[in-house]
Amino acid sequence: MTDANAAIEVAAGVPTSTLNRIDLSSSDIPGSVSLLKQACLDSGFFYVINHGISQDLMEEVFVQSRRFFGLPLSEKMKLLRNEKHRGYTPMFDQILDPANQINGDYKEGYYIGVELPEDDPGARKPHFGPNLWLSEDILPRWRQAMEKFGSQALKVAKVAARIIALALDLEADFFDKPEILGEPIATLRLLHYEGLVSDPSKGIYGAGAHSDFNFITLLATDDVPGLQICKKKDAKSPMWEFVQPMRGAFIVNLGVMLERWSNCIFRSTLHRVIGNGQERYSIAYFLKPNHDCLIECLPTCMSEENPPKFPPVQCQTYLSQRFKDTHADLNVYRTEGA
Ligand code: OGA
Ligand code: NI
Repeated sequence: MTDANAAIEVAAGVPTSTLNRIDLSSSDIPGSVSLLKQACLDSGFFYVINHGISQDLMEEVFVQSRRFFGLPLSEKMKLLRNEKHRGYTPMFDQILDPANQINGDYKEGYYIGVELPEDDPGARKPHFGPNLWLSEDILPRWRQAMEKFGSQALKVAKVAARIIALALDLEADFFDKPEILGEPIATLRLLHYEGLVSDPSKGIYGAGAHSDFNFITLLATDDVPGLQICKKKDAKSPMWEFVQPMRGAFIVNLGVMLERWSNCIFRSTLHRVIGNGQERYSIAYFLKPNHDCLIECLPTCMSEENPPKFPPVQCQTYLSQRFKDTHADLNVYRTEGA
């Protein structure tokens, strides 16, 4: 079978999901809350449009991302991710669905986190510290573009968090307050999927099926389709649906932390990336609350008939475990390099 035929087969019969669009420039707040609520109850996925980040900047980060991934592997390996989860993640570094995948995800990535100097007391916390930046000689304006995009994405995520709070019958600033999103663990991740055709029957995926283990994710993608969601993961034959790329918009999805907070009323839906033979780039902004924020069932999401399903958990405890579960041991690279 040719690659093109294989690609058609992979996509055959897979429907496209219609996701609600939340227009952040709209003054009809109740309208936005209702659209968002419907999306969160149904799939936990929606588009965010008119978010205020300029098209120029959205395009610039993709240009810069392509430039980075276009460097020779030996250059990229010099920036191999460290214990703080900063830097380059090569092909197969991540395996999101070990039960159904061989090798790992057919993608490479780059983690950028909250920037703090090494000697800052805050840098003792996991996930906080200095980033691995490329020198200006190799990729001029790279750092600048990433930092600008990261800070604007945080603003967008906070606006979305206010609408989410209203949709959960909470005060608008419930999540957007110092003890929850005051010093968030935010990660920008550049992703590059090689032009490989996925073959689920052989366990080959761009990214294996997973739910994001954070609060919310903002995802910007290029025009190549690949992202699929599965709303009913426990069904006998789970159905996958494509999420269409939307230029200039973010695809926003809820993470497991919000699912726990909302006692599973809001959904953190399983998703994966299927390669169709075309190269694909995406940029994910993962937002998690402060390290010591306690994630526990919201008062508006429990009742006598619906008691809390999960014990409270501290953000950093939950996060450390999930990172360990889904990434290769860094010693793998040390041994190989020796
Ligand atoms: C992720 C993810 C989807 C994509 O990184 O968690 O789901 O389209 N990415 O890259
Ligand atoms: Ni994801």
